[in-house]
Amino acid sequence: MALGRTRAVGLVGLSGHVVEVEAHLASALPAFVLVGLPDASLAEARDRVRAAVGSTGLTWPNRRITVNLSPAALPKAGPAFDLAVAVSVLAASEAFEPDRAARVVHLGELGLDGRLRPVRGVLPAVAAAVAAGLRDVVVPEADAAEAALVPGARVVGCRTLAHVAHRYGAAVLLPDVPVAPPVRAAGGHRRPPGDLADVLGQAEARGAVEVAAAGGHHLLLVGPPGAGKTMLASRLPGLLPDLDEAEAVEVTAVHSVAGTFDPEGGLLRRPPYEDPHHTATPASIIGGGSGQPRPGAASRAHRGVLFLDEAPEFPTAVLQTLRQPLEHGEVVVHRAAGAARYPARFQLVLAANPCPCGRAIGTGLACSCRSLERRRYFGKISGPLLDRVDVQVEVPAVRRAELVGAAESTATVAARVALARAAQAARWAGTPWRVNGEVPGRVLRERLGPDADLLDLVDQGVDRGTLTLRGADRVLRLAWTVADLAGRAAPTRDDVGRAVALRTRGQGT
Ligand SMILES: Nc1ncnc2c1ncn2[C@@H]1O[C@H](COP(=O)(O)OP(=O)(O)OP(=O)(O)O)[C@@H](O)[C@H]1O
Ligand SMILES: [Mg+2]
Ligand SMILES: [Zn+2]
Repeated sequence: MALGRTRAVGLVGLSGHVVEVEAHLASALPAFVLVGLPDASLAEARDRVRAAVGSTGLTWPNRRITVNLSPAALPKAGPAFDLAVAVSVLAASEAFEPDRAARVVHLGELGLDGRLRPVRGVLPAVAAAVAAGLRDVVVPEADAAEAALVPGARVVGCRTLAHVAHRYGAAVLLPDVPVAPPVRAAGGHRRPPGDLADVLGQAEARGAVEVAAAGGHHLLLVGPPGAGKTMLASRLPGLLPDLDEAEAVEVTAVHSVAGTFDPEGGLLRRPPYEDPHHTATPASIIGGGSGQPRPGAASRAHRGVLFLDEAPEFPTAVLQTLRQPLEHGEVVVHRAAGAARYPARFQLVLAANPCPCGRAIGTGLACSCRSLERRRYFGKISGPLLDRVDVQVEVPAVRRAELVGAAESTATVAARVALARAAQAARWAGTPWRVNGEVPGRVLRERLGPDADLLDLVDQGVDRGTLTLRGADRVLRLAWTVADLAGRAAPTRDDVGRAVALRTRGQGT
């Protein structure tokens, strides 16, 4: 009985697991059996592998072929196993010296003509292989640059199955085919447009965006059409510091699995920005799809900004799905084969008109909505979702007089944000938190210590019933960030007052 073996990697969420791929050839009636809990797409792999081997000019062994993928219990999704299955069959049939491929990891989908097609998730897959001590990886040529981003990986990019077999010494002719272009989904990780200097006037709202950036607070902007809400929100990511190494690897892995990563510029080092349209489905926000599930916008915004423009226009179902990532920092996509987890720790930014006609605040014009309409419109985003949004401010229509002169640039404000973040990093060193927006209210209250009488302002709000207890915690959080931005060691009474205004859309409630 002839035996050929090689390796591949299966992904569950972002975690890769090395899969052993073993082909046995037996002198029995010709057949081709794949075992090891393959999903539907793996069954299709049989036909692709068989056709691809034929296209190389190598002989398909006329025997009973059993390919076993183990560990059997690991769910194996996606087309990335084609190449390893083909290589194991060729090794078993002694198209080349079988040992040569045994410790090499093979990733890639095969075309019927033997061409190697790029796959999603190459970065986390190669990282898992290297972590398991397997440094030699063969990937589709278009994926080689991405694979090479993993430190310690020895990467070979190949165009066709014939090229792979040839490397191991098989006697094949190398076909002259162009590189298959990478599979890249539209959108993806991009730099948000524009500089903060473009936003004139709106001192309060600009300050709110700065506070949100400094403390990692979720943000709501409410105002009439044309006030600059979209402009302001899209300038928030530019104020955030670069990702650190671990974050960059994680964010890049998410975009690799989503198919939205372009390895041209190396690892993604800027916080991502995702602004799904209000016609988006829950699956496109949270993730899903058959086979290897794709991370949704909430995960693609991991360590960056998720912006819901015209938030009340989003279906309630979509808004509801955000509660899980807001609470746990990840989403779980359930599959028959098991659950895939993707990180989703984003900063949420919501923009909304105050009412359907848009004139209820900041215009000086009469609102033509009935009060029930008004409440229903805004009620969609209120409740548990809005309760988590620390900064809630009004953005009134800009007056013509404000649209002159110069405003501070993104670079200037980002420098203050960086200082405020450094102060927070020092304060929360040794804790799981890095920015005030993540710190539980109890901890913040203890920290206020001897200045606890500053809490009067907050307590009054709670006593009057205009601030919920959670709202009071949010105000404390903001007061610390206001102090950090001003370079103060602890919040003053004024800082708490400003925080109350930032939380309550300037109404002091
Ligand atoms: N503060 C501002 N400074 C400079 N230009 C502004 C400002 N506010 C609005 N504009 C101009 O008005 C346009 C519309 O702004 P933007 O789309 O951000 O408003 P919006 O509040 O999001 O409105 P809508 O509710 O209709 O979406 C901008 O493209 C810009 O040209
Ligand atoms: Mg807008
Ligand atoms: Zn109205």
